[in-house]
Amino acid sequence: MNMTTPYAYQFWPGPMEGVAKAEFVATVNELDLVSRWMTPFLRVSEIPAPRKTVAIFLAPFLRSGKPVTLQLMGDDAKILAETAKTAVALGAEGINLNCGCPSKRVVRHHSGGAMLNDATLIGEICRAIKDAIGEKEFSLKFRSGSGDWREVENFLPPLAASGDVDGFFYHCRTVAEGYTAIADRKERFLTAAQAAGDVPLVLNGDFDDGAESFAILAECRAKGAMIARNWMRDPYLLRRCEKQDAPDAETGRQLFFTTFCAKNPPRGAQLEICRMLWGEKSPVFRKLCKKTK
Ligand SMILES: Cc1cc2nc3c(=O)[nH]c(=O)nc-3n(C[C@H](O)[C@H](O)[C@H](O)COP(=O)(O)O)c2cc1C
Repeated sequence: MNMTTPYAYQFWPGPMEGVAKAEFVATVNELDLVSRWMTPFLRVSEIPAPRKTVAIFLAPFLRSGKPVTLQLMGDDAKILAETAKTAVALGAEGINLNCGCPSKRVVRHHSGGAMLNDATLIGEICRAIKDAIGEKEFSLKFRSGSGDWREVENFLPPLAASGDVDGFFYHCRTVAEGYTAIADRKERFLTAAQAAGDVPLVLNGDFDDGAESFAILAECRAKGAMIARNWMRDPYLLRRCEKQDAPDAETGRQLFFTTFCAKNPPRGAQLEICRMLWGEKSPVFRKLCKKTK
């Protein structure tokens, strides 16, 4: 891949649990807004997810005809590996393990971001999933650490050296930082790029289509960027990053919302998507709230 031409990078939609429901995914597919999908997390704990559950979960994403990566969350290697096997049999191109979710409920259950405290367990899970899915891509999505962003320098090199992980998705915040703005994002990306060694790295955290984002991608020799919230504020953002024709941000928001509402999603979902597109202080959102009362 030529790392100097911007469109050679991969641009990924950030998984968004609670947002990427059927009507949302159908809207993205209809407007052709992404080149690939990573699903939100499917949490598996007591038993491997039954085939039917995985099929229903994957279906809206697979309908796009684009490569789909299923994201899994859990802390039991055998159960996760079994579920991963089912998912690839159903058409998933890749499996991703969530090691970053900061939700208190998730962390309490020793999953998501809490996993960063147990690198040995992450390694065991990676090995089990990779063994189960063979040639299909296995990747890890993680934050910089639990409380200190430099934790990444400790847990990442052994995972990179293990040979079990085909790619990393790195969200530069710590679990404790949640979604707060951070000032030293570039330093964090460069540090992770070093720690990842030869394993391809996709960067995540406040990316957009601006010159600064592309400069970071080039400096880190990254494989690409994953964008969540900025994509929701500008639904054609990933297409613009890929240097494809795209309408301006406001036209894109209107097109997205009209297409989404035409699918008759529940009123609450309409409000949530409107809030993500325009922000809760926007006249559009306020007007919709008034209508709903
Ligand atoms: C509503 C919402 C739901 C999310 N759900 C997931 C998820 O299921 N899995 C995951 O790995 N990250 C999830 N994230 C995190 C994003 O994918 C992304 O890593 C984070 O927002 C940072 O990227 P950004 O700065 O481009 O938004 C979620 C974020 C939001 C705002």
